[in-house]
Amino acid sequence: MRIGVIVGSHRTESESAKVGRFLSEVLSATDGVSTWTLDLGKTPLPLWDEALWSNGPQWSMMPELKSELDACDGFVVIAPEWHGMVPAALKNFFLLWAATGELSHKPALPCAVSAGEGGAYVISELRMSSYKNNRLCWLPEQLIARQVKSICNDDTSQNDAALHDTFATRSRYALDLLLAYAKALTSVRDSGLIDHDTFMNGM
Ligand SMILES: Cc1cc2nc3c(=O)[nH]c(=O)nc-3n(C[C@H](O)[C@H](O)[C@H](O)COP(=O)(O)O)c2cc1C
Repeated sequence: MRIGVIVGSHRTESESAKVGRFLSEVLSATDGVSTWTLDLGKTPLPLWDEALWSNGPQWSMMPELKSELDACDGFVVIAPEWHGMVPAALKNFFLLWAATGELSHKPALPCAVSAGEGGAYVISELRMSSYKNNRLCWLPEQLIARQVKSICNDDTSQNDAALHDTFATRSRYALDLLLAYAKALTSVRDSGLIDHDTFMNGM
């Protein structure tokens, strides 16, 4: 099983990427699970435009990116809270995918990141408006990495032990559920019911 970790910060060295590394290590330590990471801070994508439909030169990375996404069975989507919103790079990412494969009918665990006590706005925004045409299936559970500078650090002396342990325990639980959903939703994708030609833009 392969899980894609999508890091939604624009910053090249973001706290979201740090959380992504932590979650990726937890997943990789699980039997039969591998991970692939797309960090939108390190690998920025162009803003959506019509040339996407005619394979314009600025979209030359799409076939490779599509095949990486196609190979994933589920996703962790990490979104820092910026001005109470999901960063534009991540919203742009969701605009790019609408075919069978990629994100469609695959489970995703949303993980918000906040330097303080925020994070709830981005969870709401992701659940409300980031799945219709790409058909990503948000898990009912979620993670919020609050006080992020005090958790998930490689140098564990920088962690607040209690905060980190709480996040680690929740992560293990949520990631195990993600893996179970990833296994279960394979049968939905294999059912022959999915018809994106007739219902191109959802119902
Ligand atoms: C432009 C900008 C806006 C931000 N707005 C919020 C916010 O509304 N709520 C919040 O909890 N944190 C906010 N933060 C702080 C982030 O939670 C913090 O930078 C955290 O490290 C996650 O961002 P990162 O993954 O880009 O490092 C903001 C940060 C930036 C750069």
